[in-house]
Amino acid sequence: MTALPTVELLVYPHDCDAFGHLNHAAVLVLLERARWKSLAEGPGMDLFHRNGVVPVVRKAVVEYRAAAFPTNMLRVESAVVHRGTTSWTIHHTATRVADGVLIAEADIVFVCLGRVGRPTPLPEEMGRLFGARTMSGQSARRVTVDGAELAVEVRGEGAPVLFVHGFPFDRAMWRHQLAGMSRWKRIAPDLRGMGESSAGAEEYSMGRYADDLVAVLDAVGVGQAVVCGLSMGGYIVFELLRRYPERVRAAVLCDTRPQADTPEARRNRDELAALATERGTDAVGERTVPGLLAPATVADQPEVLTQCRDMARRCSVGGVVGALRAMRERPDSTPLLGAIRIPTLIVVGAEDRVTPPAVADAMAKAIPGARYAVIPGAGHVSPLEQPLATSRALTDFFEALS
Ligand code: MLT
Repeated sequence: MTALPTVELLVYPHDCDAFGHLNHAAVLVLLERARWKSLAEGPGMDLFHRNGVVPVVRKAVVEYRAAAFPTNMLRVESAVVHRGTTSWTIHHTATRVADGVLIAEADIVFVCLGRVGRPTPLPEEMGRLFGARTMSGQSARRVTVDGAELAVEVRGEGAPVLFVHGFPFDRAMWRHQLAGMSRWKRIAPDLRGMGESSAGAEEYSMGRYADDLVAVLDAVGVGQAVVCGLSMGGYIVFELLRRYPERVRAAVLCDTRPQADTPEARRNRDELAALATERGTDAVGERTVPGLLAPATVADQPEVLTQCRDMARRCSVGGVVGALRAMRERPDSTPLLGAIRIPTLIVVGAEDRVTPPAVADAMAKAIPGARYAVIPGAGHVSPLEQPLATSRALTDFFEALS
């Protein structure tokens, strides 16, 4: 993730509606002003002109969080959270300077058009400015634990939240939450053998992953965190609750299930492990990723499909085979549910075919006092497919904790 200069802008009366609130359309205009101001304060407002390209907005998703009024000064933070060959995505957060209230968040997807109006690869200068075509551009700390070196991204200050990714992914799965949820200390490791973490030589199991995560918390000086796990990450949250309940302040179980693998699921794990060994992790991504996403994500957000395949490609064969083994052998966590006594949020994509809403609903009913959020338009990878709605569900839960 590459941050652009943060700027402050005043809300004028003509930006507001008849009730005196900053109006919806004016938020988009204000964010556009913020981008130009950040260019003026950074690489120059003629960045596109001098490179012979035109930036065109292809998609804008805005979440309005609170009202703003004339004379409010808003601080707009902007970061490039995705960079493709011809496109990039800027994540904005606008907060009121006087009281720190979050007014709006937005993801704006741009495509780079050349002189004849066709998508064209980002010129070198813009590529340098927006960061490499990589997972997030954000550098990670290294934590060595029992033979593996784990990459851990730590961002911001505030109550700690540990983000645990799913399979066959890495911490970039949480890229929008890491970029945008600026009021929390976000801790996101790559599990061993995935992303930038080395595979290590140890046998993989849910216990091994849980020990790794506790070592990560120790290394970053955090005693207790809200732990947010997606799918395989959720299986690991269950293990943390069994082994280290004192380290978990609250839990978010995202697109996951408590049950152990069925015999058929175990056979599929073995087949996938053989595929990884014979043809590499790229083949694992090709096989698994399309079925994880909602059909509309595949059709309308091809960049999400690419990001998921890139994450699979970055996994090592050892990491994938190890994860499959750990999931294959994981215990049934159903008996644990009724004994969970910490605040818990269940999140599920409305179109999740791997861990469908019915599974999530039953899990929510089995955990005393659990909250439940269904994310419209998302499949199994809600934080990446519908980032604003997912972040909203998470922040509502986190705010209720404090
Ligand atoms: C994941 O997203 O982590 C996987 O779908 C979990 C699984 O295969 O059980």
